[in-house]
Amino acid sequence: MSAEPKRVCPVERAGSLDNRIRRWLQDPHRILGPYVEEGMTVLDVGCGPGFFAIALAQMVGESGRVIAADLQQGMLQKLEDKIAGTELEQRITLHKCEENRIGVSQTVDFVLAFYVVHEIPNQAGLFQELGSILKPTGRLLVVEPPFHVSKAAFAETIGRARRAGFAPVARPRVLFNKTVLLKKA
Ligand SMILES: C[S@@+](CC[C@H](N)C(=O)[O-])C[C@H]1O[C@@H](n2cnc3c(N)ncnc32)[C@H](O)[C@@H]1O
Repeated sequence: MSAEPKRVCPVERAGSLDNRIRRWLQDPHRILGPYVEEGMTVLDVGCGPGFFAIALAQMVGESGRVIAADLQQGMLQKLEDKIAGTELEQRITLHKCEENRIGVSQTVDFVLAFYVVHEIPNQAGLFQELGSILKPTGRLLVVEPPFHVSKAAFAETIGRARRAGFAPVARPRVLFNKTVLLKKA
């Protein structure tokens, strides 16, 4: 039995997070292309089995870096297996988070939080921590799922981000999902 709290997506469901149907519905290059450039350092918080982390590593190129951070070692292991022996291995740093602390100290140009914020008990702490490592010109893209997260809950998330010093700059369209692009206010 998993020792993680129930709200966390189990490692056994990793397959549903990385497959051809999702790639078609949520093409990572299309979603992230407007924000990610070669040479950037980016953080994928709650990276899961690496659906977006791998695309991010392709987008930042040889001179860029991706910090792929997750609470569950099993998710990080799945990503590690996918990149083992490829050129992406050098670009992706796997990082194990604690439940209430991402624990990354390096400054970053872009943060992706895809389908993870609703799984984090202390959202205020999360946004504070992300604010402390995001560069002044950086962007944070939050995407939350349509069914698990209500409109009201998403509005509360944006409120917590605002109180932690973020300001919404756009509401990019990601089919059926709730999204907000944030910058440091
Ligand atoms: C639904 S999955 C989404 C994975 C990935 N972002 C994607 O879209 O494919 C949520 C992920 O967030 C991770 N997670 C949950 N709580 C977390 C926390 N407090 N800190 C870091 N990661 C967390 C889970 O382990 C899981 O891998």
